[in-house]
Amino acid sequence: MPFDIAMTDELLSTTRAVRKRLDLDKPVPREVINECLELAVQAPTGSNSQGWRWLVVEDADKRKALADLYRKGAEGYLSGAVDQAEDGGDAQTKRVFSSAMYLMEHLHEVPVHLIPCIEGRPADGTPMVMLGGMFGSIFPAIWSFQLALRARGLGSALTTLHLIHEQEAAELLGIPDNVMQVALLPVAYTKGTDFKRAERPPVADITHWNTW
Ligand SMILES: Cc1cc2nc3c(=O)[nH]c(=O)nc-3n(C[C@H](O)[C@H](O)[C@H](O)COP(=O)(O)O)c2cc1C
Repeated sequence: MPFDIAMTDELLSTTRAVRKRLDLDKPVPREVINECLELAVQAPTGSNSQGWRWLVVEDADKRKALADLYRKGAEGYLSGAVDQAEDGGDAQTKRVFSSAMYLMEHLHEVPVHLIPCIEGRPADGTPMVMLGGMFGSIFPAIWSFQLALRARGLGSALTTLHLIHEQEAAELLGIPDNVMQVALLPVAYTKGTDFKRAERPPVADITHWNTW
């Protein structure tokens, strides 16, 4: 089947971190989450390990508790980053941190939280090749999940700041010790579906051919 290149490129270039435009009032059916996860697990994993595990949190009390943990971890970092961005950051960075603050305040209202996990946890001193294999075996799937959401009129933002309190989140959600949380994605329908490309440096400035 030939791909519609224009549509594929639009999907790849306009799947943004969505926070302020998440529709906090529209429920997200389980079938949509399941469909997007079916697509996500088509992503590659090191040695075909497929160690990914997914925890979908719909329960309002648990979302509230997760949002509290997120705020506890994020508040100091984000308020420092907002101040720094205000002191001479570019417009895009200012928007990112204003948006991140908004998410911190509203995370409990987002109808679904998805926590991607990996079975296994690196010991201290684990070699880079192992770490690369471990984290590299979940982020492609997470991105596929986000693309699949976007294609269906939903959005998300990849967040990691709740991991500052990973252990407390594990206790809240009954996650066993040998399962490592790697992110938290707030998932909701988006208000409107029109998103733009982000500003990025020219690829020629960051790409080396044959020799660095
Ligand atoms: C590894 C990683 C961790 C991130 N952690 C957070 C986070 O904790 N909170 C948040 O609001 N956004 C987080 N983000 C989202 C970035 O802030 C986002 O990609 C950035 O705002 C740029 O927006 P864009 O993806 O729409 O270009 C994270 C992104 C990545 C790749």
